[in-house]
Amino acid sequence: MTEAILLVGGKGTRLRPLTVHTPKPMLPAAGVPFLTHQLARARAAGVEHIVLATSYLAEVFEPHFGDGSSLGLHLEYVTEDEPLGTGGAIRNVAARLHSAPDDPVLVFNGDILTGLDIRALVRTHKATSADVSLHLTRVTDPRAYGLVPTDETGRVTAFLEKPQTPEEIVTDQINAGAYVFRRSVIDTIPAGRPVSVERETFPELLSIGAHLQGLVDSTYWLDLGTPAAFVRGSADLVLGRAPSPAVPGRCGDRLILPSARVAADAKLTGGTVVGEGAFVAKGARVSGSTILAGAVVEPGAVITDSLIGTGARVGERSILTGTVIGDGAIVGADNELREGVRVWCDARIPPGALRFSPDQ
Ligand code: GDD
Ligand code: MG
Repeated sequence: MTEAILLVGGKGTRLRPLTVHTPKPMLPAAGVPFLTHQLARARAAGVEHIVLATSYLAEVFEPHFGDGSSLGLHLEYVTEDEPLGTGGAIRNVAARLHSAPDDPVLVFNGDILTGLDIRALVRTHKATSADVSLHLTRVTDPRAYGLVPTDETGRVTAFLEKPQTPEEIVTDQINAGAYVFRRSVIDTIPAGRPVSVERETFPELLSIGAHLQGLVDSTYWLDLGTPAAFVRGSADLVLGRAPSPAVPGRCGDRLILPSARVAADAKLTGGTVVGEGAFVAKGARVSGSTILAGAVVEPGAVITDSLIGTGARVGERSILTGTVIGDGAIVGADNELREGVRVWCDARIPPGALRFSPDQ
């Protein structure tokens, strides 16, 4: 039996102030809590036992996923009193693992949407007898990630978390946040204190000559750490670009959840999701966006690449591009909000209050 650890803790995210009661892994992506996609993909790859390592807003996971049986999984939850970091979180759940010392244990960052062939990562791990195997992907700007150069056999030669100087950027291969650990390696991580697997465990393992194996796989990959990425990921799930067995219904241009209402002439495109009980009125155009449960889009509003929070309202003819509207916020009619705008939960923007003018 293969088992896995899913890391869903940490200090929270840039999405957190906007969705007060919802930690990011529980934000609906393509209509279901994001975590469902990761759990379902792991299950499809043969994983049966998953331990969720959580720290903040932990109490929302168990009521939703329970013992995991509805997904065909055995799920367990471990909550840290204080965030223990990625390595500390892995070590903290070691007692829940059933694997023998030489068995492979999967570890996933909880904010990644990917088409990774999980079985192939485990196969590589076994074939190379590695201590840890890492999924690597290529990006144009690696500064927000862990940089992972490898030799010609794929063996990891260094691990540089969040490289900043040009001299540090020696490759475009980064840590994609999915690992296979030899079980006994997990037991060597110090217990009871914060440990970063990226800044401490991997560099130390390399310094003592441990075998870290990289598997470069350039399938779909996205870290959902920013609101823009989250909205993109949800749309890609709906469009079928990001593969997940947990997307409810068929993939296509839009996903309208059963109790949502959409006016006949409203136009929904680009993987837009309309959540439970939400309403999109006549003449509205919504593209590549996520409308969460109970939100209202009034007539003629034009929404692109945006996240509209639970119970929020977008007024008539308002134009929103690349914005996040917090839960319960109200954007009055005839406003224009552009890239990067964050309207906080329950805030009120009066009609016609905001316009964008580039002064050119
Ligand atoms: N339980 C627990 N406790 N989980 C944690 C903690 C903690 O203290 N800290 C972080 N996590 C979880 C987060 O919830 C997330 O799922 C994962 O660990 C990674 O943390 P992030 O905060 O999202 O890190 P990052 O995105 O800046 O960088 C990581 O991911 C990159 C790929 O997206 C690193 O692993 C990089 O090396 C990697 O390239
Ligand atoms: Mg991340």
